[in-house]
Amino acid sequence: MLEWLAIPALAMGAAFIPKKPVSDEVKIQRIFENTNTCIKFGDSLQHPKLRTKKNGDGYVSYFYSVPLGLGESNIQSVLPAIKDGLNKEAEMELDGFLKLTVYETKLSNWTYDDKLIRPGTWEVPVGVSYQGILYHDFDKLPHMLMGGATRFGKTVCLKAIFNTLLLNNPDDAEFYILDMKAGLEFYKFSGLPQVKVACDVYEAAEMLNEIVEQLKGDEKMFRSRGWNNIVDTPIKKRKFVIVDEGAELSPRIIGGSKKKYAEYSQSALSEISRIGGGIGLRLIYCTQYPTKESVSMSVKMNIVSRISFLVPEAIGSKVLLDEYGAEKLPAIPGRAIYKVEKKHFIQVPYINDKMIFQMMGERLDENGKNRTVVNDHRQAGSGEDQTPTTHT
Ligand SMILES: Nc1ncnc2c1ncn2[C@@H]1O[C@H](COP(=O)(O)OP(=O)(O)OP(=O)(O)O)[C@@H](O)[C@H]1O
Ligand SMILES: [Mg+2]
Repeated sequence: MLEWLAIPALAMGAAFIPKKPVSDEVKIQRIFENTNTCIKFGDSLQHPKLRTKKNGDGYVSYFYSVPLGLGESNIQSVLPAIKDGLNKEAEMELDGFLKLTVYETKLSNWTYDDKLIRPGTWEVPVGVSYQGILYHDFDKLPHMLMGGATRFGKTVCLKAIFNTLLLNNPDDAEFYILDMKAGLEFYKFSGLPQVKVACDVYEAAEMLNEIVEQLKGDEKMFRSRGWNNIVDTPIKKRKFVIVDEGAELSPRIIGGSKKKYAEYSQSALSEISRIGGGIGLRLIYCTQYPTKESVSMSVKMNIVSRISFLVPEAIGSKVLLDEYGAEKLPAIPGRAIYKVEKKHFIQVPYINDKMIFQMMGERLDENGKNRTVVNDHRQAGSGEDQTPTTHT
C-alpha cells in the first residue's frame, strides 16, 4: 500500500525539482520555430541557423545564416517576440546573414547635463543607446528629420540639440527657428543674439526668404573661390534652421490665404536641404504628422539622419525611417530610433527651459554671446561616446 502511495509522491516531487534554465540561444531557436520564421523546403522546414556568437560588454551577438527566400520583413517581425520571450532588449541587422544582439541592460531616463557639451564641435548627444551616448555630428551629416506622436519628446529633443549647439559654439552658431506652434516653445529664446524665431506661416515665409537670399549670396561667394563644402573652408559660422511642426508649412495641409506662404516655405526648405548643406546651412525638420503631405519628398531625399519617436501607425515609421519599427517602440517619452546607416534605439536626454536658461546663464556673458565658464572635464571622442557615422 505504502509503495502505491510513494509513486504519485515521487511524481509530484519531480515536478518541484528546479528546471535547468533555458539559455537565450535555445529560446531564440524555439521562437523562430513557434513563429514559423522559416521556409518550406521539400518536406522539411528551414529556420535561421546559428553559426557563431560573440560575447561583448553587456551584450551577446548571435550570427545566423538565413535560408534563401526568407524575407527581411519576416525576420524583422519576429523581433518583438524575441524581446518578450527573453525579457531583454534586442536589435537586429540583416546583411547577408542575421546579426541579433541581445542586451543585458535596458534603456532608462536620464537628464541632460553640461558635461555633454563639446566646445568647438558641431556634435550633439542625441541619446543614450545600449552601447553608450551617441553623438550626431552636424558637420558630417548636415540635416535631420524628426517625427513622432504628440507628447513623446520631439520638442525636448530639439531643445537639447539647440542648447548643445549654442553652447558648443556661442560665437558661430546662428538659429532660425520656425516655431509653428505659435512660438510657445522657442520664442522665449529670441532675446539671444544668435536666435531668430518665426511664430506663424507668414513670419516663417519671411524668415525663409531672408535665408534663401543669404544662401544665394553665399553660393556665389563659394563658386568664385572654388569651394564646395564649408567644412573645408576657414568659415566657422553655421546656420541652423529648426522647424518645429513642419505640417504647418505644408501647402497640401494648409489652405486659404496661408497656402501660398506655405508653398513658398516648402520650396525654400527644399532648396535649403538640397544646396544649403555645403555652404553651412543645417535643417532640422520636425513633425508630429509623418505623412507624404507633411514631409515633402524633396526635403526627405536630402536628409540622411532621422529620429523617430513612437508613431501611431507603421506607415509613419516608413516615412521617417524608410522602414518599419517606430510603431513598436514602447510608449515612453524620449524613447526613439536614431537612424543614420543603421537603426539605434535611444533614450533622449531630458532637458527643460529652466535648465537651458541656467546653463546659458553660466556660460554666456550678458550679451548672450561669449563663453565665460567652460567646464568640460571630458575629452571629445573619449570612452563609449561616439558618433556612429563613417562619413567624412
Ligand atoms: N527625453 C525625455 N525624457 C523624459 N521625459 C521626456 C523626454 N522628452 C519628453 N518628455 C516628457 O514628455 C513631455 C512632452 O514632450 P515634448 O513637448 O517634447 O513632446 P512633443 O513630441 O514635442 O509633443 P507635441 O507633438 O505635442 O509638440 C515633456 O514635457 C516631458 O514631460
Ligand atoms: Mg512639440
